[in-house]
Amino acid sequence: MKRALIAGLAIALTSGAALAYDAASQVKDRQAGMKQIGGNMKGLYDTLNGDKDPAKLKQYAGAINTLAGKVPSFFPAGSGPESGEKTKAKADIWTDTAGFKAAAGAFAAQAAKLNAAAQTGDADKVQAEFAATRATCKGCHDKYQNH
Ligand code: HEC
Repeated sequence: MKRALIAGLAIALTSGAALAYDAASQVKDRQAGMKQIGGNMKGLYDTLNGDKDPAKLKQYAGAINTLAGKVPSFFPAGSGPESGEKTKAKADIWTDTAGFKAAAGAFAAQAAKLNAAAQTGDADKVQAEFAATRATCKGCHDKYQNH
């Protein structure tokens, strides 16, 4: 019993390095996820200002909707500025959790509307929801991202 406790303590002590690695990959994954969201928004913008191909509108909006549902998981505790990693995420994300949840929720709700509009294939409807979606990105970035 005592031996097991000591072994457990040794594991806890040596996992310090692993935790530092985790924060680094959490930040990397978050930024990659945000980049993916940005890439799909750009694809949507270009399509709306180009051939308005309904298949592409559906593809981009669908991807944004899926990614929007993952945004809360991009921000695990310990992946903020206190981690020492290069991140623009503000510490407020983890102190003002209600406000951050609301910002993420507003984006997810709007992404669902964007996706619904894209399923109709009507570019005008997508255009309207695109503007509203961009506003929800800005709503969160203004409050929770360092510039
Ligand atoms: C709930 C908050 C939230 C929402 C909603 C949100 N973002 Fe972000 N975004 C952030 C934060 C915080 C960062 C900074 C992440 C970091 O540096 O660790 C970020 C970073 C980014 C980045 C930079 C990634 C990099 O390479 O470092 C891009 C691009 C981006 N967001 C695009 C978007 C777009 C486009 C939308 C909307 C369609 C959006 N975001 C919605 C919080 C949000």
